Amino acid sequence: MGFPIDRPRRLRNSENIRNLVKEYRLHPSQLILPLFITFGQNKKEAISSMPGVFRYSVDRLSPVIEEARKVGVSSFLLFGIPETKDLEATQALNPEGPVPSAIRFMKKHFPETTIMTDVCIDEYTSHGHCGFLSPDNRIENDSTLTCLARMALIHARAGADVVAPSDMMDGRVSALRTALDKEGFTDTLIMSYAVKYASSFYGPFRDAMMSGPQFGDRSSYQMDPASRTEALREARLDVEEGADILMVKPALPYLDILRDVKNAVDLPMCAYQVSGEYSTLVAAGQNGWINLDKAIMESLLCIHRAGASAIITYFAIRAAELLLKGD
Ligand code: PBG
Repeated sequence: MGFPIDRPRRLRNSENIRNLVKEYRLHPSQLILPLFITFGQNKKEAISSMPGVFRYSVDRLSPVIEEARKVGVSSFLLFGIPETKDLEATQALNPEGPVPSAIRFMKKHFPETTIMTDVCIDEYTSHGHCGFLSPDNRIENDSTLTCLARMALIHARAGADVVAPSDMMDGRVSALRTALDKEGFTDTLIMSYAVKYASSFYGPFRDAMMSGPQFGDRSSYQMDPASRTEALREARLDVEEGADILMVKPALPYLDILRDVKNAVDLPMCAYQVSGEYSTLVAAGQNGWINLDKAIMESLLCIHRAGASAIITYFAIRAAELLLKGD
């Protein structure tokens, strides 16, 4: 007969009270903006499957960094588009390539920024896979590690603050840590894509980077969306190997995994709101099917609530503007 005493709804009656009981708030400094750096000069190329995202040559980078800095975004994740691709991923190890050049440029002109780099060879191999191939077209784990370690060193020497191995080869975190420490880069952080699923949500990125696999797919090294416990194993291994920050990717379809890993390990967590998450929201917004600004903020807040203190997102600048406006 009695009405239940517990009435959570009354906490939502006033805006002041709603603000007092909020448990999660985002800040622009939590956002990381991915940047696609292309070879050549005077380039700012639109990417048709990612409206609003561009490939920049180093000499055209400043405006986007200034725009981000103005709204409090100071962390950037760099990807490179080399002029040539081959079986050996030669350009991944070119100290004059787009990524090392961009790092040096940013260190010089924007010394207050934090520079993170994607360490993976898929953008540099002619076949588009993240590892070297054996004669029977299988991905070779161990020979790939040597290349990844050299690539990370090149980025560290150019001034990268954080290297982010994204290939999902086994043992890459310890390969990178050993190589970095040996050359005195003991303070270079490793943000590992510890849990990366073989996802169709990477489609637009592969367009952007022209890095889609030329045969087969990535399911022999990226995780199956149907598996969950393996995520914890992958995460624990990366902790043991010396990772500083762990990443789960994609973000929104994998919030349960993000929370599982967050609860299981004591490292800071990052999540990557990937290209397909970006493009689907943008497309729905362009059609007037959702309110894009609200959907951006809701998705980012939910990713934060699931356990990520840092979020990589192509919406970083827009989201930071909205946060500053108090939306
Ligand atoms: C691999 C890499 C990929 C992404 C980030 N790093 C592509 C892949 O694994 O196929 C995807 C990012 C995105 O979709 O936004 N270098």
